[in-house]
Amino acid sequence: MRDPGRDSDDALHPADPERPRRITRKAVLRAALAATAAVPVALIGGPALARTFTPDAGPVPLTPACDDGDHPTPEQTEGPYFKPASPERTSLLEPGMPGTRLTVTGYVFGRACLPVTGALLDFWQADANGAYDNVRYRLRGHQYTDSRGSFALTTIVPGLYPGRTRHIHVKVQAPGRPVLTTQLYFPNEPRNNTDAIFDARLLMAVRDGGGGREAAFDFVLDLPQEPGPGPTPTGTPPPGGAWTAGTAYRAGERVVYGGRGYVCLQPHTAQRGWEPPSVPALWRAA
Ligand SMILES: [Fe+2]
Repeated sequence: MRDPGRDSDDALHPADPERPRRITRKAVLRAALAATAAVPVALIGGPALARTFTPDAGPVPLTPACDDGDHPTPEQTEGPYFKPASPERTSLLEPGMPGTRLTVTGYVFGRACLPVTGALLDFWQADANGAYDNVRYRLRGHQYTDSRGSFALTTIVPGLYPGRTRHIHVKVQAPGRPVLTTQLYFPNEPRNNTDAIFDARLLMAVRDGGGGREAAFDFVLDLPQEPGPGPTPTGTPPPGGAWTAGTAYRAGERVVYGGRGYVCLQPHTAQRGWEPPSVPALWRAA
């Protein structure tokens, strides 16, 4: 008999803190998508700052890289509380619902790092008190990625329940493909260190904002795709010097990084971990 207070731990995926941080093709694509996305760049790009740089704890392990197709998002146990046939909705908020407001935004990519349109994301989570609604569909809902492969969920920060760290459950499925069942985690949670299911590769980038918390996570599905031309550098580099850590950049300034030009979107002092392809909140591909 499964302990109802604890998800089963039959799908452990140990973290890989030694995985080198790389500028991935996905990061470049994400920057390009953010530059043309209908939703505000700050909403998409901002949390990436948290993903790539934490002043006190060092670099957070990135969501699995999507540069060579070998690292799809890890699977995790479904746990005891999944319920099929959730309503289609992007907001799980209800009038009077207690809790800290949370938005989760991101993209769904395939193995070639191309966005997946029409991917189904089905979220379920505990309420602010750590309880699941197993009778109705409170804090459960599904949605589909748009033509850019992006999704946006509005909800609350889930509460803690015995035996687990803070998490959100999700199933992700590209049209006609197998379901990826996994969980998303919050950085700097004390229980991350003691939860046997926790996987640092599933950490969201989270920051304060929007009257609560803003989180970002990109899924990489084990989905074959025909690689497109990609945002590879071509022709003469645009004007501007090489990106340099320690330099104070102003909005509108141009730099070259990795053979590609970028335009600064907001003033900041450059530092390692904020290389232009990694922080679409700060740099847009020129
Ligand atoms: Fe759970």
